[in-house]
Amino acid sequence: KIYRASTTAPVNIAVIKYWGKRDPKLNLPTNSSLSVTLSQSDLRTHTTASCSPKYTCDSLLLNGSPQDVSGARTQACFRELRALRKKLEAENFSLPPLSTYPLKIVSENNFPTAAGLASSAAGFAALVRAIANLYELPSTPTELSKIARQGSGSACRSLFGGYVGWDKGTAVDGSDSVAFEVAPASHWPNMRAVILVVSAAKKGVSSTTGMQTTVATSSLFPARANETVPKRMKEMENAIKNKDFETFGKVTMRDSNSFHATCLDTEPPIFYLNDVSRAAIKIVEGINCAAGKTIAAYTFDAGPNAVIYYLEEHENEVAGLFKAMMGEKEGWEGARGKAVQANHE
Ligand code: DP6
Repeated sequence: KIYRASTTAPVNIAVIKYWGKRDPKLNLPTNSSLSVTLSQSDLRTHTTASCSPKYTCDSLLLNGSPQDVSGARTQACFRELRALRKKLEAENFSLPPLSTYPLKIVSENNFPTAAGLASSAAGFAALVRAIANLYELPSTPTELSKIARQGSGSACRSLFGGYVGWDKGTAVDGSDSVAFEVAPASHWPNMRAVILVVSAAKKGVSSTTGMQTTVATSSLFPARANETVPKRMKEMENAIKNKDFETFGKVTMRDSNSFHATCLDTEPPIFYLNDVSRAAIKIVEGINCAAGKTIAAYTFDAGPNAVIYYLEEHENEVAGLFKAMMGEKEGWEGARGKAVQANHE
């Protein structure tokens, strides 16, 4: 017999960036972060988890190619989910012993994995939720976020839809380093994001390696983690609560720039932005200047691709203009997303 469950998890793009770990094993961050979860239909990972006494070993297929499951991150997720299932089985003897069967995970992204579009976030969130569904765990998204975080830090935020925070927590065991809902997507439903795929090439320095080097060498970093981000987290939460795009946009752009400044201040320096990224920044500045207020906000993760947040009513001035200016250039592709409620199947 084969037991099976499927789920999807959306991509999230941080407006206050996670960069730096206080515990690399448990993926405990040096600062809290905040993101917007993007529309599932546009950018998401679909995952089916199955288990059977007939399978010979744990396996993971991503977009059709076999992945190594022996890595510490995947193993941590499997181990924690199995432990929760084991507990259920111990409480209810009629349950089949799924915790003892090998797992088979089949994942598909509907966006280019190599493009650095937060694929690990959607990937681990979907993996954790698919197995939790398979095991019929009664866990809440908050509890699952603790497990997904061990797969990839940013994955913990993809367990929620809408506007999501990740509290850095203070406990050494990571028990309070969890994702939480700042506001549901329905609170500010006209938020939109356009993603400009500047380069679909795999990023130069992985976020895991990059952030460790930044923590170890950047002298700008302590101020960012201890002063700048805590202040901005509050400003951002208030901006979202008040649907204040002016503040939301300004803080988003400043935080992206602060994060990339610590990258440049890393030894050896890390460059994620390229000339096309900087051209995108200039265009956003032009759009806001012409509008006389902030109607577009850029942010960049660990790569050159730009994510531009804007409100639906400014579709033409923002997405339309980007399309007109960049759409014809080679290497530019647009992927559109909107903030939606994650679907807890
Ligand atoms: C720049 O979550 O990919 O996108 O925990 O090592 O897997 P690991 O890192 P990851 O880092 C994401 C960094 C970021 C900012 C963010 O998403 O908050």
